[in-house]
Amino acid sequence: MAPALSQDAQNQDLPVSRSIALDIEKVSHRYERDGRQLQVLDDVSLKIEPGEFVALLGPSGCGKSTLLRLAAGLETATSGDVLEDGRSIRAPSPDRILVFQEATLFPWRTVRANVAIGLEARGLIRESEHRIDDVLKLVKLEGFADFYPHQLSGGMAQRAALARALVNDPKLLLLDEPFGKLDSLTRLRMQNELLDLWKNAGFTALLVTHDVEEALLLADRVIVLSDRPASIVAEVRVERPHPRRRDDAELIALRGSILETLGISHDV
Ligand SMILES: Nc1ncnc2c1ncn2[C@@H]1O[C@H](COP(=O)(O)OP(=O)(O)OP(=O)(O)O)[C@@H](O)[C@H]1O
Ligand SMILES: [Mg+2]
Repeated sequence: MAPALSQDAQNQDLPVSRSIALDIEKVSHRYERDGRQLQVLDDVSLKIEPGEFVALLGPSGCGKSTLLRLAAGLETATSGDVLEDGRSIRAPSPDRILVFQEATLFPWRTVRANVAIGLEARGLIRESEHRIDDVLKLVKLEGFADFYPHQLSGGMAQRAALARALVNDPKLLLLDEPFGKLDSLTRLRMQNELLDLWKNAGFTALLVTHDVEEALLLADRVIVLSDRPASIVAEVRVERPHPRRRDDAELIALRGSILETLGISHDV
């Protein structure tokens, strides 16, 4: 068994080391294209506690994926700083894994071989072979290890992408609209699975979603971003225990106020 995926979190004697604090400090970001500057983030500051689950909501194109890429270390902010446990993030690390908006499985590799990629790259494949079986079981794909991506449903492909992230036992899991393309039933199931994984593994989670309900069902805190360049326009703490019900009156009220912040009428 890959210990940190479940046992560590349940063992009260162990220090909480499976998660990190993420500190986004006065971050502004610009892209340059054809000599023109595109301002994407404008003075975003956000502190995320170790083990916290935070959801990011905001209009399309406002800069949500950009923020995740900065946290993953795939890009460096034009100004400000992104810190992991107080240290500046300068490069990608297996501790901080981004599950991309588009499921990016390699079509020529089986599910098992896709999940193995991170371990292979780190030269850990021999001693960690069993971890692949563990995570495939965790995302309920143990019977599909030898399938190729084109033989999977959309939900299964997303679960495989999640397994590929989890096999690295990340301390920070960055999720970019991971369920956006799934049908609503699969989506509900995946949301519950993600919550279970988060509870058991103890990582810090930052989830980008377009779905206000999804944010409220899953997160400890929901951050609402403005249009590009994104700045934080609202921050909502969700203090309801899990499992949450979508017809919970408090969540419905929060949904209304978030939709209002986003400039959308209540009855959508
Ligand atoms: N590498 C890049 N070079 C130039 N511009 C970029 C680059 N990546 C993103 N952008 C631009 O930055 C803006 C924000 O993009 P980003 O992908 O962060 O938005 P988003 O909030 O994730 O949108 P969506 O909800 O549609 O996924 C967009 O206008 C996009 O065109
Ligand atoms: Mg995006």
